[in-house]
Amino acid sequence: MAKKIEIFDTTLRDGEQVPGCQLKTEEKVIIARELEALGVDVIEAGFPISSPGDFLSVVEISKAVKEPVVCGLTRSKKEDIDVAAEALRHAKRGRIHTGIGSSDVHILHKFRSTREQVLEQGAWATKYAKDKGYEVEFYAEDAGRADLPFLAKLVEAVIAAGADVVNIPDTTGYCLPHLYGKRIQYLMENVKNIDKAVISVHCHNDLGMATANTISGLINGARQAEVTINGIGERAGNTSLEEVAMTLKVHKDLDLYTNIKSERIFELSHLVSSMMRMPVQANKAIVGRNAFAHSSGIHQDGFLKHAENYEIINPADVGVPSSSIVLTARSGRAALKHRVELLGHSVEGAQLNMLYENFLIVADEKKEVNDDDLLVLVNNQEVLSR
Ligand code: KIV
Ligand code: ZN
Repeated sequence: MAKKIEIFDTTLRDGEQVPGCQLKTEEKVIIARELEALGVDVIEAGFPISSPGDFLSVVEISKAVKEPVVCGLTRSKKEDIDVAAEALRHAKRGRIHTGIGSSDVHILHKFRSTREQVLEQGAWATKYAKDKGYEVEFYAEDAGRADLPFLAKLVEAVIAAGADVVNIPDTTGYCLPHLYGKRIQYLMENVKNIDKAVISVHCHNDLGMATANTISGLINGARQAEVTINGIGERAGNTSLEEVAMTLKVHKDLDLYTNIKSERIFELSHLVSSMMRMPVQANKAIVGRNAFAHSSGIHQDGFLKHAENYEIINPADVGVPSSSIVLTARSGRAALKHRVELLGHSVEGAQLNMLYENFLIVADEKKEVNDDDLLVLVNNQEVLSR
């Protein structure tokens, strides 16, 4: 039977950490409501101790949404956990996301601590958070570079202390997909109490592998994916929600599914992009301007014969109104004819050849030939042929 993957959206926490992308509480509430409508399972609403604004956002989002779990981030510190517990008090289902560094680099150079102390502090923080009466998710920061047997010990200790979910972040985007997957597999096979918690994957995109790593983690037993809309986030960003949701939808063979209502993706991508003043790159998978645009002659001809020749996703499935045929100097006669017909004219044979010659002259001058340019070409040709 297909297994459900929980979608944990951190657009409003990890995504919002991007310089220049900070949002007001009212804007965050609007996005949170849209995330709820999209069908995410968990909304990470902020890091309550980090600022009064973040605290307020967690409070207001807790009041605003009903279905998703609302989550607040903390360090493994008493004051962080106390403040997060307070911020989440209106949540129908609240979750405290606490954690600590797990790689030797972090243990030595960030915490100036030891593995033993990290084990102790992680377990302590988990229990302290759990005693507040919320769900607890523990993150083993920089797990992508952690010593695996030590990581397994830490995961076992925090599950024993009450963690409901354990997040294995590739904080620095260091891992390769097959090796990140093996990390998850190792934990599934070597942590005695692993069946008592959900394993979560949280990947960064420093080497452009965030989505591949996330999918590899899910294939190897993780059941929650931490993602952001448009893949926004620290440095090169986080795993993008739309890429994970659509990969699982397209690859039914994986036997994994999410509750994401994919037809809402495109609109929310635009909303986040405009509110955060963070443009989406044109060739971004699923939501980029060119994701469903066909511009070379061979592709256009194949696409017009049968869309599946060049599209693995129906644009309507992600809320994109339609595919587009972009007319450039690389376009062929089939695309030109198609577009001219859409404009209400029909051209065949020698007429089409002549139009195509003139079209190429304009296309060489301009990057893209638009409908107005085409109408001028068609009208000139009609006048000449009278
Ligand atoms: O990337 C990371 O390790 C994080 C944690 C705080 C979960 O964002
Ligand atoms: Zn992160």
